[in-house]
Amino acid sequence: MFEQLSPLAGDPILQLIGMYRDDPRADKIDVGVGVFRTETGETPIMKAVREAEQRLHDSQTTKTYVGIAGDPVFDDAMVDLVFADSTDKSRICAVQSPGGSGALRIAADMLHKTMPNKTVWVSDPTWGNHTPIFEAAGFTVKKYPYLDTETKMVDEEKVLDALSKLGKDDIVLFHGCCHNPTGSDLSPEAWDKIAEIINQRGFLPFIDLAYQGLGKGLDEDLYGTRKLASSVSDLVVTSSCSKNFGLYRDRVGCAMIVAKDKATVDITKSHLTIAARVAYSMPPDHGAAIVGLIMTDPKLRQMWEDELTEMRQRVLGLRQMLTNKMADITNTDDWAFINEHRGMFSLLCLDKEKTDKLIHEHSIYIVGGGRINIAGLKDEAQVERFAQCLAEVTR
Ligand code: LMR
Repeated sequence: MFEQLSPLAGDPILQLIGMYRDDPRADKIDVGVGVFRTETGETPIMKAVREAEQRLHDSQTTKTYVGIAGDPVFDDAMVDLVFADSTDKSRICAVQSPGGSGALRIAADMLHKTMPNKTVWVSDPTWGNHTPIFEAAGFTVKKYPYLDTETKMVDEEKVLDALSKLGKDDIVLFHGCCHNPTGSDLSPEAWDKIAEIINQRGFLPFIDLAYQGLGKGLDEDLYGTRKLASSVSDLVVTSSCSKNFGLYRDRVGCAMIVAKDKATVDITKSHLTIAARVAYSMPPDHGAAIVGLIMTDPKLRQMWEDELTEMRQRVLGLRQMLTNKMADITNTDDWAFINEHRGMFSLLCLDKEKTDKLIHEHSIYIVGGGRINIAGLKDEAQVERFAQCLAEVTR
C-alpha cells in the first residue's frame, strides 16, 4: 500500500542540522537552526533549570497524569509572565502544550473547528512551520507584506495598510518579538496603531511568542502583546519556553486566549482543551514543572532572569561585532541593519546561489533566504571568518 508514496523533502531548517554534523571541515560554522549557543558552541542547561530539576527529582512522588490543561502552577505562571498586569486575568485562559508548535496547533485546531471560514494571514516572510500548521488545521493561509528587502527592516506602513483592509473573516498572526526569520520587529507606535485597526476592522489577532526575553528584555519584548491585551476584546497568544528556558527537547509551551469576559473565556477554554485532548490527550509534565518551580521560587527566578540577561547580552554583543566587521571589510554601512535587528535571527536576503556558496564552499550552514542565527557564531574568530565569507559572496 505504501509503495504509492513518493518521498517528501524534509524541513529545510532541520536538514541543516544533519548537514552540519556530517561536514568534516574543522572551521565549519552553524548559523542554521535557532538554538542559543555559548562562545564554546554549547547549548547549556540553564543553572536554574538544573536546580529545579534536582528539586523535582527529590520531591516528585508520582507520574500520574497532570490533566488536559496541564499544571495550573505553570499555566498561571505563563499568564503572569506574558500579560503581567496589562488586563484582568479573569478574562484569560491558559492550556499547557508540547512546545510552542503544540500550542500553535491546538489553537489553530480550535479556531478552525469554531470559525472554519476565516482566512489566516501570516507575515511575508514568516517561520517555515507557521503556514503548514494552519493549513493542517484546515485554514486557507495568505500573506501580508512585512519586510522591506532593501532596508532589511519591517515596512510598517505596508503592514498597517494591509491590515486596514482586513475584517471579521480574518485571523492575523503576529510575532510578539524577535521576528523569525527577519529579526526586525514592529515598533511600539505600530502596535498602538494595530490595536486601533483591530478595533475598527474586527479581525482576530494571534500572537506567537517564541523568544520572550531574548530581544530587548522580558517586559520590553511584550509591548505589543500587552498593548493588545489591554485594548482589544479577543486575542490568542502562543508561547514557547524552548529558547528562553533552554528547554528545547522537553517541549514546553502554552496556548492562551483572552476573551471579552470570564464567562466567555471559560467556554473558550473548554473548546481549547478538547482540541488538546484529540491531538495528544495530555501534555508532558517534566519541562513545565521546571518552569512552574522557577517562576514561583524567588531565588530560582532571579537565577533564571540573570542567565537570560547574559544570553541576550551575548547576542547583542555579537550583533555589534558583526556589524563593525562588515563595516570595516566593505567600507559601507550596508550591513548596519544587523545591529538594529533583535533576537537570535537576522535575514540577510541572500539568493540561493549565495547561500549555496556559503554552505558548500565555506562550510557556513545558513538557512535559505540568508537567515542567520547570530548566537551560532562562537567567538570573534568565527565572526571574522563569517564576515569575510559574507563579504566575498556578496561582493
Ligand atoms: C528555528 O526557527 O530555527 C527554530 O524555531 C527551530 C525550528 O523548529 O524550526
